[in-house]
Amino acid sequence: MEVAPLASVTEPREHVVGLLAANEPVPLDLLPRLRVVANYGVGYDRVDVAACAARGVVVTNTPGVLDDATADLAFALVLAARRQVVEGDRFVRSGGWSGSWSEGSLAEEVTGATLGIVGLGRIGSAVARRARGFDMRVLYTRRLRAGSDLGEFRELDALLAESDIVTIHAPLTEETAGLVDARRLALLRDGACLVNTARGEIVDEEALVRELVSGRIRAGLDVFAHEPEVPRELLDLPNVVLTPHLGSATRQTREAMTRLAVDNLLTVERGDPPLTPVAAR
Ligand code: 8YV
Repeated sequence: MEVAPLASVTEPREHVVGLLAANEPVPLDLLPRLRVVANYGVGYDRVDVAACAARGVVVTNTPGVLDDATADLAFALVLAARRQVVEGDRFVRSGGWSGSWSEGSLAEEVTGATLGIVGLGRIGSAVARRARGFDMRVLYTRRLRAGSDLGEFRELDALLAESDIVTIHAPLTEETAGLVDARRLALLRDGACLVNTARGEIVDEEALVRELVSGRIRAGLDVFAHEPEVPRELLDLPNVVLTPHLGSATRQTREAMTRLAVDNLLTVERGDPPLTPVAAR
């Protein structure tokens, strides 16, 4: 076994048959005997699955085991952004709190609000289940328009216009890149809150920055279009909470992801079918 950044692979490595990679391009030409890429994460948008398939290389991911951690973080961002938690923390630390209770601008309630879920898959469903505990009305949109008892289906534009809080849980694909563009961001209600724990590229980041700088909406962002770069304009804004791609970053979830990724490598090495393969989209 060898641990090295993939970018350091510049010469052919004849001995490599399995690779554990975290959503990064795989240098297939330099790995002629490669049989399996175990992606450390559920999203595999930077792995060219079709090119792997063409060479008989199996690609696997880690679905399921990170749903709760990601849904928890989405909810943390909903609560933090909507209830001004980070703003309040900064206020206390700055020594600015002088009254006996906060007299600043009042937040909007989370309980009873309308939550729009973009992508009601495994993670989106985990978010919808949490929303029940907050007596929220749940709207959802998803590619396969099957009904769900977790909420009411809406087309994306209607969902954006009707929700107090919108949270994104779609994979990044050709279809979803730039899905929430400037026109769609403008559909959000004044004071609405956008949470993204999926992929930054799903939202037009420049348009989002403009909306946030204007102060019209709030946001909780865990993902960005050019990680680890975060648009400078966001850094001083009170209406946005920023986290560094923490969705799956709990000890329990990272252990489960590691177990599943390694089990996939070992299963393919044994000649058995992979546990959680992905198909070329
Ligand atoms: C990261 C994620 O992949 O699963 C995903 O799609 O975005 C995260 O879990 C993981 O942190 C490793 O890069």
